[in-house]
This record gives sequence, C-alpha cells and structure tokens, in this order.
Amino acid sequence: MSVARTVMCAGAEDTERLGREIGRALQGGEVFALEGELGSGKTTFVRGLARGLGFLDTVTSPTFNLVHRYLGGRLALAHFDLYRLKSPGDLELLDLDDVMEEGGVVAIEWPRLAEGLLPERRTRRVRFDDAGSAQRRVTLV
Ligand SMILES: Nc1ncnc2c1ncn2[C@@H]1O[C@H](COP(=O)(O)OP(=O)(O)O)[C@@H](O)[C@H]1O
Ligand SMILES: [Mg+2]
Repeated sequence: MSVARTVMCAGAEDTERLGREIGRALQGGEVFALEGELGSGKTTFVRGLARGLGFLDTVTSPTFNLVHRYLGGRLALAHFDLYRLKSPGDLELLDLDDVMEEGGVVAIEWPRLAEGLLPERRTRRVRFDDAGSAQRRVTLV
C-alpha cells in the first residue's frame, strides 16, 4: 500500500528545501516521476534534490537536451525532461532504462512516455499543483 503526503510550499525556496531534505536521505536507485504543469516547480524540486546530494553547481532545466547528468555529489543524479519527446522509441536514444540501473538517483519530468519502463518498487511519484500565487501543493507517494 502506498501512503501520500501533501506539503504546501509557499515559494520556490520552500520547494527547493523540500527537494533538499529528500535528497539528503536518498540511498541510490530511487526514481522520481514528477508530474505537474509547466511552471509548477518540478525543476525547482530537482535543484533541491541535487543540493541535498551535495551537488552545488548550477542546475537548469533539461528542456532542450532532454537529460542533464550531475556528478560530484554523494550520488549521481540524472535529470530527464521528456516534454519534447515524440515517441517512446526515442527513450532508447536517451538510455533511460540503463541509467535507471546505475545506482544513482533519476528524476523524470513529464514521465508519461516512460511509464512502461519505470521500476514500480523504486519509483516515487511526486505531483505538483499550483495553489495560487507562489503556493504549490506537492503530493508525494
Ligand atoms: N512554491 C513554488 N515552488 C516552486 N516554484 C515556484 C513556487 N512559487 C513560484 N515559483 C516559480 O515558478 C517557477 C517554477 O519553475 P520550474 O521549477 O522550472 O517548473 P517546472 O519544471 O514544473 O516547469 C519558477 O519560476 C519559480 O520561481
Ligand atoms: Mg521543468
């Protein structure tokens, strides 16, 4: 059975802090499937994960590259954004299935086309909803 936890984040700093706290506790192998509209805070959360893993350099959205990989933290972090992906076949080019077996942490924005590949037991789903002005409701499963 899975239990959902809902956190209200009152600004981008809050969402980043939530990611940071979660990032500190990761052990490797976790896959985050991040759902929510554009601007809902997914990338901000991943920046927090990177910080929590000890990666201190710039973390930007992989909108155009589809994946950014961060080394040099306590665990490697791969950050995918599949928004621009056209078909599930393109996932092979990105090596997503192999990357998920490397023992690092994987975060995926717009994970719909990757659903069939996600390891159910290791996948954590996080849903971001705009709750007015700078408020975001973050639901973790
Ligand atoms: N509570 C909040 N959490 C996250 N981002 C917020 C929040 N309030 C305002 N923002 C702003 O919303 C935008 C979120 O962008 P981003 O994290 O890139 O979203 P996504 O990756 O979901 O498209 C940023 O400009 C950020 O400053
Ligand atoms: Mg994003």
